[in-house]
Amino acid sequence: MKKDLNRHWWKEGIVYQIYPRSFQDTTGTGIGDIQGVIKRLDYIKGLGVDIIWLNPVYESPNDDNGYDISDYRNIMQEFGTMADFDELLAGMKERDLKLVMDLVVNHTSDEHQWFEESRKSRDNPYRDYYHWWPAEKGIPPKRWSYFDVEGSAWKYEEITDAYYLHYFSVKQPDLNWENPEVRKEIYDLMQFWFEKGVDGFRMDVISFISKDMNFPELPESYKGKFIPFYSNGPKLHDYLHEMNQSVLKKYDVMTVGEAPGVSIEQALEFVDEDREELNMFFHFDLMELDREAGEPFLMAKEPWKLTEFKKIHSAWDAVFAEKGWGSMFLNNHDFPRSVSRWGNDSRTHWYNSATMLQTFLLSMRGTPFFYYGEEIGMTNIRFENISEYQDINTINRYKTEEQRGGNLVKFIENEKDASRDNARTPMQWDTSENAGFSETKPWLKVNLNHQEGINVASQEGKKNSVLNYFRQMVQVRKDHPTLVYGSYQLLLQSDEEVYAYSRVLENMRYLVLLSFSTKKKIKTINEIVFEKAELVISNDEIYPTNQNNQFELMPYQACIYKLS
Ligand code: GLC
Repeated sequence: MKKDLNRHWWKEGIVYQIYPRSFQDTTGTGIGDIQGVIKRLDYIKGLGVDIIWLNPVYESPNDDNGYDISDYRNIMQEFGTMADFDELLAGMKERDLKLVMDLVVNHTSDEHQWFEESRKSRDNPYRDYYHWWPAEKGIPPKRWSYFDVEGSAWKYEEITDAYYLHYFSVKQPDLNWENPEVRKEIYDLMQFWFEKGVDGFRMDVISFISKDMNFPELPESYKGKFIPFYSNGPKLHDYLHEMNQSVLKKYDVMTVGEAPGVSIEQALEFVDEDREELNMFFHFDLMELDREAGEPFLMAKEPWKLTEFKKIHSAWDAVFAEKGWGSMFLNNHDFPRSVSRWGNDSRTHWYNSATMLQTFLLSMRGTPFFYYGEEIGMTNIRFENISEYQDINTINRYKTEEQRGGNLVKFIENEKDASRDNARTPMQWDTSENAGFSETKPWLKVNLNHQEGINVASQEGKKNSVLNYFRQMVQVRKDHPTLVYGSYQLLLQSDEEVYAYSRVLENMRYLVLLSFSTKKKIKTINEIVFEKAELVISNDEIYPTNQNNQFELMPYQACIYKLS
């Protein structure tokens, strides 16, 4: 391989995201815990993945399942203790697995000691840790909140006759990054975890940390579409650079920002190596392809088209072709299950479409992120009733809808495909009552399809299982560095049925064919010249390639060929 590829472990590594609340309960509380992750480390290692991203495990009153942190240097009691955490980290090091933690520093919990102080009086030393708007200035200019029933991000407090800012729930006040003491606290806590030996951070809504301190009225174009405004704060890049220089630079760590509202034109400002900010980030273009991102969040748009899906990935690949680095994901704890959304979870097409999507993530250039259960093809649960939901996002939007006298039936229909709880149901380990997740009733219902083959135990011993295909495909990525570093060329650009592309590095060339169709298809590849196409992997039986570069694909079939 060429020497100038700028190789890094976080480019070559495959990430496995764990939502600890839903992974494995070992204490009989119905809630997953850190010992549960420890128990499953051999399973994780056996997947072939390299890096675990753990959703927040810090002390938290759990208004938003750990994204409201009340102590950054302690472990949530429900999940265990710091000793458990240390044991987890040691177990991971033994197995040569890296650990990426969640860094949630746009906001804290209102039960964090800083906020408890801040709200006491206007002259409290912690007052400026948060954004306060004194009531004598009048009603503050409208800011939208994701999880507020009234949709307002300003909450009035009588104690000091002022409003505080909360982009998320009222229990998640936004930190004031203008204050150098706040930034120092954050860099110190990052250092605390790096000194323990963690290998990086996924940075929660990091694009929102800088605010325009004049809090002007939102410009007309952002009304109702506030996310790009939130992500464009005047000092964002000063802060990221400062964070890099103060902490990140000292360690060999991985950083991935969650960056709603960041457009492709702004991408390199975050990840161009020369700017020394982040390694990579999650963009939201794909997640917004079929869902409204503004208000109300996540309502369905027109059905998505494969050509649009290709366009998004091709454009994002191109922007990082020379500089920076991308990330690849199809779902996470905030979005519905990938096979239900981008594939087809009907009995007939579930296997092929789940494995086809795995082939996709593992044959593109950016670092691939898999979400627990994706390796066995877990699907959306599609709750019928609001009482089954646990997610603050669904529950509070339901209340808003109720107050507005909106259409609640339509709302629930939408949530069946959109709610975050679809992705948070317990991990399906086996066919037992609670799917091997817990001995008691889990905090969120288990999907009943764990009894129909969507579980680890049943798939373990089966040759043609989603799980074993995943393992094979992971190995294919490892054996073929071209899939990590090679250039990408889109083929069959305007085809609505098959996604085809080549990956090329020096004299190595691969062709990837992914069918998104429920029908058998024959496609001709004549945009690139080759004599021989030798099969590397496929999720279905291969029919002999015809003359004239024709390929026949079964429904949702995925194939990778080595070309010569
Ligand atoms: C991010 C998290 C999400 C959380 C929100 C507020 O989007 O991924 O789960 O609710 O930030 O912290």
